[in-house]
Amino acid sequence: MNKNIGFIGCGNMAQAIIGGIIKSKLVTPKQVMASAATNRNLNVAKESFGIEVSNNNLDVARFSDILILAVKPNMYGSVIEEVKETIKDDVIIVTIAAGITIDFVEKAFGRNLKVVRTMPNTPALVGEGMTAITPNKLVSKEDEEVILDIFQSFGKTEIIEEKLMNVIPAISGSSPAYVYMFIEALADGGVLQGIPRNKAYKLAAQAVLGAAKMVLETGMHPGALKDNVCSPGGTTIEAVATLEEKGFRSAVISAMNSCTDKANEMSK
Ligand SMILES: NC(=O)c1ccc[n+]([C@@H]2O[C@H](COP(=O)([O-])OP(=O)(O)OC[C@H]3O[C@@H](n4cnc5c(N)ncnc54)[C@H](OP(=O)(O)O)[C@@H]3O)[C@@H](O)[C@H]2O)c1
Repeated sequence: MNKNIGFIGCGNMAQAIIGGIIKSKLVTPKQVMASAATNRNLNVAKESFGIEVSNNNLDVARFSDILILAVKPNMYGSVIEEVKETIKDDVIIVTIAAGITIDFVEKAFGRNLKVVRTMPNTPALVGEGMTAITPNKLVSKEDEEVILDIFQSFGKTEIIEEKLMNVIPAISGSSPAYVYMFIEALADGGVLQGIPRNKAYKLAAQAVLGAAKMVLETGMHPGALKDNVCSPGGTTIEAVATLEEKGFRSAVISAMNSCTDKANEMSK
């Protein structure tokens, strides 16, 4: 790719994306620059990926054809204010923060420019990210392809209408946290029955990974996959019946509603 990619903010998410684009050779390290508040993360990123780093956000703003704002949501306003006169005219601005709307970004820059709102997740760190993406009207098909290439370098992508973007934290942005809770609970249940702790985590996590792959790769309905492993009068249907009795699915859906309410609140 013949574009410079800049990151303002160089924490967990920026480094996951940088890892993806460097390891996949989408760009060379010289085509990537990051800035941050301190040298702590910048030194790690320079050492790990050989990218350019700076303490000055304006260096990144001048350098970038694609500018990824990888700071916490509450820093977006001040960072945009700082760089808005320095960015290239045809830069593509990419946001990765929950609740930050395209309208907010356009108004903060005070002019028409290409904006892509995204919501990735942390499995990006192991090349299994899931990113929802909404481009604004100024983003061409060609620009969109470039952005998809970046996010597909560390996982899967889906284009989503912006009105649904506040639901994305609940289903893929934040959901790794509830899956970790599920894996921990499975492991605890195993330990309770005498399985050693380290083996319990491996058994539980691989079962979750395998089940997810079954959904993605067979294209079968999750309910049909569940039915296939429930023998009449068997052990699995006993567990399924208990999960239903304890409100497993309704607990997940309620948790997702709370997550979406919070994202809507953050957008105001
Ligand atoms: N982590 C997730 O699961 C996840 C998922 C989806 C989206 N996101 C979004 O991704 C964004 C970044 O999250 P993260 O987890 O990567 O956060 P993080 O690890 O705390 O990184 C934040 C980065 O911003 C830098 N920073 C703070 N103030 C700055 C400033 N004024 N100018 C330039 N850089 C500044 C920090 O500098 P230092 O290096 O000096 O601390 C740090 O490098 C957030 O908006 C978050 O909502 C995160």
